[in-house]
Amino acid sequence: MRVAVIGTGYVGLVSGACFADFGHDVTCVDKDASKIARLKDGHMPIFEPGLEDLVEQNVREERLHFTTDPTEALKSADAVFIAVGTPSRRGDGHADLSYVFAAAEEIADRMQGYTVVVTKSTVPVGTGDEVEARIRKRRPDAEFAVVSNPEFLREGAAINDFKRPDRVVVGGADDPRARKCMEELYRPLFLNETPIVFTERRTSELIKYAANAFLAMKITFINEMADLSEAVGANVQEVARGIGLDNRIGSKFLNAGPGYGGSCFPKDTLALVRTAQEAGAPTRLIEATVKVNDARKKSMAQKIIDAAGGDVAGKTIAVLGLTFKPNTDDMRDAPALDIIPALQAAGATVRAFDPEGVAEARQMLRDVEFAKGPYECVAGADAMTILTEWDQFRALDWKRVKAALNTPLVVDLRNIYRPEEMRERGFTYVSIGRP
Ligand code: UDX
Repeated sequence: MRVAVIGTGYVGLVSGACFADFGHDVTCVDKDASKIARLKDGHMPIFEPGLEDLVEQNVREERLHFTTDPTEALKSADAVFIAVGTPSRRGDGHADLSYVFAAAEEIADRMQGYTVVVTKSTVPVGTGDEVEARIRKRRPDAEFAVVSNPEFLREGAAINDFKRPDRVVVGGADDPRARKCMEELYRPLFLNETPIVFTERRTSELIKYAANAFLAMKITFINEMADLSEAVGANVQEVARGIGLDNRIGSKFLNAGPGYGGSCFPKDTLALVRTAQEAGAPTRLIEATVKVNDARKKSMAQKIIDAAGGDVAGKTIAVLGLTFKPNTDDMRDAPALDIIPALQAAGATVRAFDPEGVAEARQMLRDVEFAKGPYECVAGADAMTILTEWDQFRALDWKRVKAALNTPLVVDLRNIYRPEEMRERGFTYVSIGRP
């Protein structure tokens, strides 16, 4: 099948590369000429394990193409994916749909023959109707269907998530031609018996928000249990295991930490709250989740300050990990963006290291010294704190770390070390929700 993908951000690029790898002929289009030029040269705009090889192989085998020209991309495309950004609109938290509608109009002006227009971007309920109306207005006689097909991939595990998803959701493929097209696109998953949920378009749009909101709520729940564990002398990791083994709850997404960040949970929870309020059906649990998570990210700096004896003025804090999670260079809504400025405001000097996030962090943080590795980062510091659980921080040379630190204090906001072992190694060790 011939596929066009509009937008080469996380979702667009990964989807395009994976559809090409499924054997389809895919053209990815983006307005950003320098991004397209770099992609043509094999340079990825994001750090995502496995993506560069996948793109390179599919470009070499001529199934994957990049262009800035939507006319070229849309020429005889059977399916066109809208995978542009839907950022939070400044001020009101609503998703900004201007890129989605611009893409819809671009498609309307260029599509040829029966075309399935698929929204992969996370869009509020009813957006599909609006996309359809806008295309219909420009092309009253065109034959097309507008289908919702939300993407559930996680950064850092994106290719595996795309190729081996728990399910695929397709909304609004009522026309048999559209349904057949979607089945054809996902045929390799069909053969794997991946469940494909065919549903109404509005339901599909809501499924995406409901999934993200539920996961954000699950994380926030365990974070509150972590605070409670600290207050009553329990261990949150064991609480998580003890509840997670109940199949109805499930053990995933129960790692307590400094609060969720990233490009999806903060933006999508906020958008859902706004949509629900306007629909007169407020989602109070999600409203609370948003508030609790924001407050948590802010309170984490105080936890570090308390661990350092209540005062960090004139002290140096070594921060290991800046990105919102490991295996990405993405800093969007990362807890580090709240924690580091608060430490600086309390008078601390911050030295930081991250395996992939430094280039982006430099743009978003002020007066931070960036180290080249973990040992340079801790040298002469008064405390070390873990903000992101990169694998390379899991097995540090503790003798070296201890010798390098002024004070052997480790504040681990991701619970990646064992408290007894850290104490045996001679550290004062503070973690999340564990004695
Ligand atoms: C998320 C959803 O998982 C994905 O399905 C959706 O398509 C996009 O949003 P992503 O933002 O890439 O994916 O990362 P994810 O692994 O879900 O982590 C989000 C945040 O939650 C991170 O800040 C992470 O550190 C935090 N988190 C996750 C926890 O604090 N504890 C957990 O147990 C899991």
